[in-house]
Amino acid sequence: MIATTDPGVVDPREVHLVALYPGDDPARAQLRRAVLRLRPAPGQRQFSGAAEQTLPQADADPDRIPFAVVWTGQNAPPGGAAVGFGVLDGGSARMELSDDPAQVVLLRAFYIEPHWQGYGVGRAACLALDTLVSEALPWARHVLLTVNERNEPAIRAYRAGGFRDTGRRHLGGPHGYQLVLARTVGSEAPA
Ligand SMILES: CC(C)(COP(=O)(O)OP(=O)(O)OC[C@H]1O[C@@H](n2cnc3c(N)ncnc32)[C@H](O)[C@@H]1OP(=O)(O)O)[C@@H](O)C(=O)NCCC(=O)NCCS
Repeated sequence: MIATTDPGVVDPREVHLVALYPGDDPARAQLRRAVLRLRPAPGQRQFSGAAEQTLPQADADPDRIPFAVVWTGQNAPPGGAAVGFGVLDGGSARMELSDDPAQVVLLRAFYIEPHWQGYGVGRAACLALDTLVSEALPWARHVLLTVNERNEPAIRAYRAGGFRDTGRRHLGGPHGYQLVLARTVGSEAPA
């Protein structure tokens, strides 16, 4: 359960994205263990897999950088609380989503732990992508993602986090059409 003094809004400055690599130092190894315990709500699993599957998949692919969404606000444990998970993918999957994939990285497998949803963490994590991308994939200028057209909360969160509809649609699975959204690294946060 969230433990801020004002549970309505999480301070975006207290939301960080921490890259996770196999063999990390003890603090990051602890974050790896923590994200493995985070699961989307049952009704959300059609939209995002759980880290217990998507983290090992990312570990096995040198083009993917898994990351923890970490909250460092008041009452957070030392090193912060893992409240979400995602993967940046600089591999070939981006080729079919962009006409100019050379500077594009995909955001995949992204979710916030259900108890933390609706507090602004997802939006803040989108804004924090700039720092992670600049550090881990400095060649990338745009972050792309696909989101199911029926996943209205996610579309709203992504828009709040600076993603814009590219107008492309992608049919990539059994759950219907996906919107392709893009965010330019370093773009202004929406008001
Ligand atoms: C999508 C997701 C990452 C958003 O994270 P979040 O922390 O809940 O989102 P935020 O609290 O930052 O909300 C951002 C905006 O989305 C809106 N929103 C969030 N959850 C919502 C919900 N369930 N219903 C309606 N709107 C919602 C907020 O009101 C806010 O809008 P505003 O800026 O206009 O006020 C999260 O809901 C999630 O993990 N969902 C399950 C997995 C999933 O769908 N992943 C995306 C796969 S593409």
